[in-house]
Amino acid sequence: MTESAVPAAISTQVDLFDDAVVADPYPTYAELRALGPVVRLERAQAWGVPRYESAKAVLADPETFSSVNGLHLNPEGNQWVTANSVLATDGLEHARLRRVLSKELAPRAIKDLAESLRSRADELVAGLADRESFDVVSDLAAPYVTGVIMDLMGLPQVDGSGLMKQIESVFDTFAAPNQRTYAGLPSAQAMFEFLQTVCTRDNVRPDSWLGAAHAAADRGEIAEIECVMTMAAYLTAGMDTTIHAIATAVHHLVADREQWELVRDGKVGYDALFGETLRFDAPIQGFGRRVVRETQIGDVTIPAGDQVWVMFGSSGRDADKWGADADRFDVRRPGTEDHLALGFGAHLCAGNHLALMEFDAIFAALGKHFPELSADPEAPAERVLNNVLRVWEKVPVRTRG
Ligand code: HEM
Repeated sequence: MTESAVPAAISTQVDLFDDAVVADPYPTYAELRALGPVVRLERAQAWGVPRYESAKAVLADPETFSSVNGLHLNPEGNQWVTANSVLATDGLEHARLRRVLSKELAPRAIKDLAESLRSRADELVAGLADRESFDVVSDLAAPYVTGVIMDLMGLPQVDGSGLMKQIESVFDTFAAPNQRTYAGLPSAQAMFEFLQTVCTRDNVRPDSWLGAAHAAADRGEIAEIECVMTMAAYLTAGMDTTIHAIATAVHHLVADREQWELVRDGKVGYDALFGETLRFDAPIQGFGRRVVRETQIGDVTIPAGDQVWVMFGSSGRDADKWGADADRFDVRRPGTEDHLALGFGAHLCAGNHLALMEFDAIFAALGKHFPELSADPEAPAERVLNNVLRVWEKVPVRTRG
């Protein structure tokens, strides 16, 4: 597609992955939504899809908007990081790979975990009870989520904290090329090496995710290499996303005592908190798709072969969907389960029930042990810049108000 063929009104030179935009993307998203349901992002050589309805329509049509060779806005990412994984396949191939862990992640299986998820969170939070302050990221969300995931993977003895930083930079590789995009590629490599060397049949419990993947390989349902790609997808998608979502929720709750009390006192459910948190600040801000047949978004024709960038983060702030106060965090907002931050359609997050149960466990424990939880006025929350993931460096809180 040449630049001159695109009407100026729907074309922009905005760099979505520039430091200043990544630090606070929401004003830029508002500009893009005002331009239309689809906007040519000249710098990324892709079509941005910033509105709620247009993003949902793209996700609902995988026959036009393919995940194959399309998730990353650069060829290296598509070829090396997610190729042939559950995330980057379509149709029957996707169904075959998604089946590998469908039993383990089904709502019923996750419900059975509720008790152990809650007691693990309770123990961790109780262990902070002597402290006047702590960091939600490094003291709570990261050890909790990495512990849960390592355990479910079948590697309870492995410390997942190093992996967490690697996975963070794997998210950089989804963007259009910049310094962060390429710095993330060695991290993806390190994650694959970890999976190949540590996650062997001898090391994992058979009644675990890795055990299930190995069993599927033994039955000939997936190839040996697909075990690694499957686990890489689950690790990438399931760890840092949940860690930073928990930190986001705490950050906003302690900034508004009334909202914290509503959650603490059970007047607003943990599912409503989960929905509003993901709507307000989607942990994954966007993923790509490849257009496999010419199509229309609004009155714009998108040629086959082009890429679109589905803007989960922007869709959560669309006033046409969420009302004039879409930029306000409010746990009382109705209908937030409609958000797109866990995807939609065929690739809807496979870990969505688990992520909600982790939220449930953490906030139940925080409400019980720290009813007076508040922001730490001496230590503001800090972020780390990432092309695609909303990352917190630290979210300090005070335990006694
Ligand atoms: C708050 C936490 C989470 C967020 C925000 C999140 C977000 C997402 C999103 C946006 C997608 C859709 C990708 C697409 O359409 O291309 C997705 C898919 C996926 N998620 Fe999650 N996720 C979270 C937690 C988890 C957890 C805990 C797991 C499991 C361990 C997980 C595993 C997956 C997998 C395997 C996929 C790929 C599904 C497929 O392609 O069929 N996620 N996630």
